[in-house]
Amino acid sequence: MTVYLDHAATSPLRPEVLAAYTDALQLVGNPSAIHSAGQAARAMLEEARERIAAVVGCDRNEVIFTSGGTESNNLGIKGLFAKRDGNLIITSAAEHHAVLDAVEHLEKQGAEVHWLSMTDEGVIDLDELSRVLEKRHRETAFVALMWVNNETGVITPIAEVAALAAQYGVPVHSDGVAAFGHTETNFAASGLATMALAAHKLGGPVGVGALIVSRATELVPLFHGGGQERSIRAGTMNAAGATAFATAAETPQPDFVALEELAVQLISPLGKLTRGNAPGVPNILSFTFEGASGESMLFLLDQAEISVSNGSACTAGVARASHVLIAMGFSEADASSALRISFGPQTTAEDVKALAEALPKVVATARKI
Ligand SMILES: Cc1ncc(COP(=O)(O)O)c(C=O)c1O
Repeated sequence: MTVYLDHAATSPLRPEVLAAYTDALQLVGNPSAIHSAGQAARAMLEEARERIAAVVGCDRNEVIFTSGGTESNNLGIKGLFAKRDGNLIITSAAEHHAVLDAVEHLEKQGAEVHWLSMTDEGVIDLDELSRVLEKRHRETAFVALMWVNNETGVITPIAEVAALAAQYGVPVHSDGVAAFGHTETNFAASGLATMALAAHKLGGPVGVGALIVSRATELVPLFHGGGQERSIRAGTMNAAGATAFATAAETPQPDFVALEELAVQLISPLGKLTRGNAPGVPNILSFTFEGASGESMLFLLDQAEISVSNGSACTAGVARASHVLIAMGFSEADASSALRISFGPQTTAEDVKALAEALPKVVATARKI
C-alpha cells in the first residue's frame, strides 16, 4: 500500500468532511438568490462563515471566502498594495510562490521590495525588520511574512512581527496556509491585517479557502462582478465548499510530535534536518542528503510506493533547487538534495519506518546517478 507523506501538498478529505460535503452538495440554490432555495444556501454559507470565524478567532464579517491559498494571497497582497500609502513591500525570499510571484509582479509594476534576511535555520531577522520599519515606515505599503514555512515547517513569530509594524501603522499580511490547524493562529490576537487560508491542507476540499480581513483593513478587489463577499471577492459563493471547509477547520489535527521525533531519530543519521533547532510545526520536516539529487530520490521512493516531495508541489512539476533553502543560504547543490515529508491524520509510525527503511538504498542509488 502507498505510504503517503505529502500532506503539506494536499491532505485527503477527512471522513467527517466528505460526509458534510456530499450532503451540502445536494442543496440547490445560489446564496444570492431571493427564493427559499437560495436562502437555504445562504443560511448554510453564513453558518459555515460563523464556524470558521470561531476557529480562526475573528469576527464572521472578517471571513472572505475564496478559491484557496493562491487566490487569498494574491487578494491580500495586491489588494493591500492598491490601497497603499507607500511603495515599499517588506517580505522574505522564502515565501510560497503565491506570495513571491505576486510581490514580483508588483515589483515589475514599480513597487520596491526589501527582502529580509534569515538565519541558516530559516528564522527571519526581526531586528532587521525593526530597523527597516523605523527608517522607512512612511514608504512601506505592507509587510508580508508567512506564518509557517511549507517546506521547512519553521514558525514565524507573527504576533511579534505585527506588533513591530503596528508601532508605525503598517499592515501585515500573512500566508497562514501551512500554519492553520497545525499551530496556534488566533487572528484577533495576531494583530494581522490579512491572513490567507486553504481548506485542502487540513482535510478539506481543494479549491476552497478564505482571506481573513480585519475590520480596519481596506482592500481593492481582484475580481469585479456581482458584489459578493462585501464586494471584496465577486463570484457565486461556494456554499458547499464553505461547509466542508468549516468541518475540516473544526476537526482537530492529531498530535504529530511522536511522529516528528521518530522521523528525526530515524532519518537524521542519513540527512540533515533543514530547520535545525528553529521552532517548527511537527507535521512538516525537510532533510537534505548531501550529493543525492532530490528529484532522483523522489522517483526512487515513488517506485517503492512512498510519496514525498522536494518542497513545494506548486512549481508545476518543474524540478528546481528549493528557493526556500537557497534563501536560507544553502548551496544550489544542497538545495537540490532535499526531501520534504509531511504528516496527516492517516499517517502512522509504520509509514515513517517504511520511509526510513527505504532511504539508505535510495540515497546511495541517487548519489550514483
Ligand atoms: C504556504 C502555502 N501557501 C499557499 C499555497 C497555495 O494554496 P492553494 O494550492 O490552495 O492555491 C500553498 C500550497 O502549497 C502553501 O503551502
